[in-house]
Amino acid sequence: MSITLKTPAEIEKMRIAGRLAAEVLDYITPHVVPGVTTGELDRLCHDYMVNVQGCIPAPLNYAPPGYKPYPKSICTSVNHQICHGIPGDKQLKSGDIVNLDITVIKDGWHGDTSRMFLVGDASIQAKRLCEVTFECMWTGIAQVRAGAHLGDIGSAIQRHAEKAGYSVVREFCGHGIGAKFHEDPQVLHYGKAGTGVRLEAGMIFTIEPMINAGKPAIRELADGWTIVTKDHSLSAQWEHMVLVTETGFEVLSVSAGTRPQPDWVK
Ligand code: MF3
Ligand code: CO
Ligand code: CO
Repeated sequence: MSITLKTPAEIEKMRIAGRLAAEVLDYITPHVVPGVTTGELDRLCHDYMVNVQGCIPAPLNYAPPGYKPYPKSICTSVNHQICHGIPGDKQLKSGDIVNLDITVIKDGWHGDTSRMFLVGDASIQAKRLCEVTFECMWTGIAQVRAGAHLGDIGSAIQRHAEKAGYSVVREFCGHGIGAKFHEDPQVLHYGKAGTGVRLEAGMIFTIEPMINAGKPAIRELADGWTIVTKDHSLSAQWEHMVLVTETGFEVLSVSAGTRPQPDWVK
């Protein structure tokens, strides 16, 4: 396995794929309300990706080694679900928090991004977890430039999460992305600054911290996909796709509705 450096032409395709994935999130936002089922959100996103965008939903039938094919087109992870929640008959209710994770394939290139949504009136604790997790993603992104190390990203994220009293999920990580959904390198959301792979201009990977309000331990549900917190504490995640440049980074998963970066970045 090795890390591919993308050419300028490939980077342009990845900008398009990233924007399209983000635009699915823009499209679905007004539908994330009390009473909607996660299955309905999946159906709406599927139809938008296929019929409006001319994209392939990458999750549908995705089957990495050791997994059965993923049965839906998006991931919907509610409350104590950490990631890979499978859409179904479950109705969202006021106070829930939900991560919607979208991955499209356009012209053979992958775009992958996720956001947190507060359904109706969320608790102060739920809002704080979602905010701190957004900051964790951004403090990770802010480390990216040619010559930095992967460990700089993980270290910054872990420090920010733990300072807030939260914990970082260890078993899942960010990933290189391009013509394949999951490529090298693995981008850990914890670690030690100055360690790991040295970043080079032209690398593209995701930063997608999963942050638990309680302990870091996870459990996999019997569906073979859904990951939950073992202690049932709330969990949140945000995901962007990032290009390494000589002087810093470019976020590729950007659309009109993308939440701006925090003021303290760069
Ligand atoms: N989109 C997820 C990620 O960020 C992967 C989901 S795999 C699926 O890496 F099969 F569950 F869709
Ligand atoms: Co990803
Ligand atoms: Co994703």
